[in-house]
Amino acid sequence: MAFEPSQPLRDYTEKVIPRYPQKRSAIMMILHAIQREQGYISLEAQEWVAAQVEIEPIQVREVVTFYPFYREHPVGKKYIRVCRTLSCALNGGYKVCDKFLSEFGTKLNETSPDGRVTVEFAECLAACGTAPVAMIDDDLYENLTEEQVKELCDAIKRDVPEQAPAPSAESTHH
Ligand code: FES
Repeated sequence: MAFEPSQPLRDYTEKVIPRYPQKRSAIMMILHAIQREQGYISLEAQEWVAAQVEIEPIQVREVVTFYPFYREHPVGKKYIRVCRTLSCALNGGYKVCDKFLSEFGTKLNETSPDGRVTVEFAECLAACGTAPVAMIDDDLYENLTEEQVKELCDAIKRDVPEQAPAPSAESTHH
């Protein structure tokens, strides 16, 4: 399916490209805008970006796959990232992650069958003093216990409607 950029995205792209001496330098700004709007950056969107800055799609793909914060596949309505770096790992980060997964009956890096969440590991989220931590979308949750994770999951189940599972991608990105 061809990528249909929204009007705000077109406007933003037109505005941001001339700010750089070289068009291609605007790639990351445009990719961020797409991910904010769509939740991920499809191959079709990457082709569109390439056309805007006049480079080859493979060069955009190299950027998308190099940086861990870009996603190539759709995610659930809530995007959960559990830190697994040292402090968090030592303080129960893996248990926190397992709890999220079991609450939603899903696997790491996959979207839950109810479409509500995608759970992934993250590297240090810069809150090691309050380990273990996790982010749900842009919100950080610290000193997590399994009970708190259960409460967070209950709140998501209560507040976030189910949605059809995200279209399955041919491959996962891990
Ligand atoms: S180790 Fe988890 S926030 Fe730093």
